[in-house]
Amino acid sequence: MNKAKRQAVIAGNWKMNKTRPEAKALIEQIKPLVKDADCGVVVCVPYTNLETALEATKGSNIKVGAENCHWAKSGAFTGEISADMLAEMGVEYVVIGHSERRQYFGETDKTVNQRVRAALDAGLKVILCVGELLEQREQGITEEVCGMQTKVALCGVSKEELSHIIIAYEPVWAIGTGKTATAEQADEVNGFIRSVVAGLYGEDAAQALTIQYGGSMNAKNAEELLSKEHVDGGLIGGASLKAEDFSIIVKAASK
Ligand code: PGA
Repeated sequence: MNKAKRQAVIAGNWKMNKTRPEAKALIEQIKPLVKDADCGVVVCVPYTNLETALEATKGSNIKVGAENCHWAKSGAFTGEISADMLAEMGVEYVVIGHSERRQYFGETDKTVNQRVRAALDAGLKVILCVGELLEQREQGITEEVCGMQTKVALCGVSKEELSHIIIAYEPVWAIGTGKTATAEQADEVNGFIRSVVAGLYGEDAAQALTIQYGGSMNAKNAEELLSKEHVDGGLIGGASLKAEDFSIIVKAASK
């Protein structure tokens, strides 16, 4: 299998943006622009917008995701949301291990693994984020960091379950900074992550895995990034908040 046979997925990561009326308006704008997409289209939205997003995307080709979930099924975890709660709503995807969770909320490789487990058990599809810090790239340990994050996150995940996972390579220095990785850098690390997955699950499973790039992907640079062999879509922050820009990226992935 090669790139042409893998499903490209463009996922918006709205982060902590948009009230419900704003969310509805943005989805209504996006819908007609992406209706003919030849790739997966997902919007990952704040918890408070999930119901609005599910309602607004009904009957469309846009899937809805959350931006995190807790690892426990229920219990005394004030302020948290479980994977089962998301699944019951009809949410299909969940982002796990985003670097902002790792940076600001104490997320570790171990808790990422626990959340991945909970999400899979609830029947959710996971967008698993990995990526190195700037100083780690400068130290030449990008592969060690991304390899370790990938391996720990996938601990206990079966080959069958891997088909419910998308990996998003997001170099932390490229997120929200306007500093995109070059297409070559993205392709190189995505390819490396694929080789790590091949070591764990075999070449066929690795070839079938969707590996996105994320970090300042936008309407201008998407086409070049997405043309690379190992870049199967994108996780889009800033540019996913503008319907026109998001749809241009979706079109680039549909080629
Ligand atoms: P950005 O964010 O596109 O704004 O850089 C990407 C992400 O954090 O997923």
